[in-house]
Amino acid sequence: MNLKNANVLITGGSLGIGKATAMLLKEHGANIAITGRNKDRLDKAAKEIGAIAIQADAGNEADIKKTFEELSSHWDRLDVLVNNAGIGKHSALAEVTSKEFTDVFNVNVLGAALYAREAAEWFKKQNSGNIINIASTSGLKGYETGTMYVASKFALRGMTECWRAELRRYNVRVTLVNPSEVTTAFGNPQGVERPDEPKKLRSMEIAHVIKSVLEIDDRGFVTDATVFATNPW
Ligand SMILES: NC(=O)c1ccc[n+]([C@@H]2O[C@H](COP(=O)([O-])OP(=O)(O)OC[C@H]3O[C@@H](n4cnc5c(N)ncnc54)[C@H](OP(=O)(O)O)[C@@H]3O)[C@@H](O)[C@H]2O)c1
Repeated sequence: MNLKNANVLITGGSLGIGKATAMLLKEHGANIAITGRNKDRLDKAAKEIGAIAIQADAGNEADIKKTFEELSSHWDRLDVLVNNAGIGKHSALAEVTSKEFTDVFNVNVLGAALYAREAAEWFKKQNSGNIINIASTSGLKGYETGTMYVASKFALRGMTECWRAELRRYNVRVTLVNPSEVTTAFGNPQGVERPDEPKKLRSMEIAHVIKSVLEIDDRGFVTDATVFATNPW
């Protein structure tokens, strides 16, 4: 696809991977809308990017519907949904609580599905569209303390295959992107980004992968892209 004048919605676009992707796609001519919960952070990022800001919690269905209502007052089509908003909670199996499990699934799984459901309505009418699901290498392999987060990313990987099977006939390309460790603010409630470490991944590496995946001619698509740091030790 051509990014010039493409309309791109990025959930969780006020920090980290979402923000870097918004900046890069904007630089290449796309129109961007970003979501996030913290209004100050969202407005600041939107100003910096030159994006539409929509305050919305990906764990809240009413907010997801509101996102598309607001979008329709700006745009008459949508070309890309980047399902990026995600939260991580880690604890040993013995410490898993229903509340934390549900919180993670509400955002990482149900939120992503509801964003995709709404976007798919636009895509089917247009007979075109793209969904990029930001999962994780935690969606490929489990580890100690990963029950809630790992399960949510495995679920996102599974849903990616379902949406691809349903939407491919409408020319919708559905891609899973699996970052490994990226030095963002992930897990920091204050939103303070980790300092850059030269051997670790930055959000920009993931943004470049997303851009490349989108820019492939519409006749083809990438199913999954997993991104590791070359030599993080
Ligand atoms: N960083 C890594 O090492 C890593 C590795 C693999 C996968 N990932 C995945 O990459 C995605 C982005 O992570 P990141 O590292 O860029 O995180 P981040 O720096 O913490 O940024 C997360 C962004 O999502 C927003 N967000 C969080 N919860 C939200 C919600 N319920 N509704 C709407 N927006 C929400 C945040 O803004 P507000 O807090 O204001 O809402 C922020 O803009 C996540 O899905 C994560 O699982 C990250």
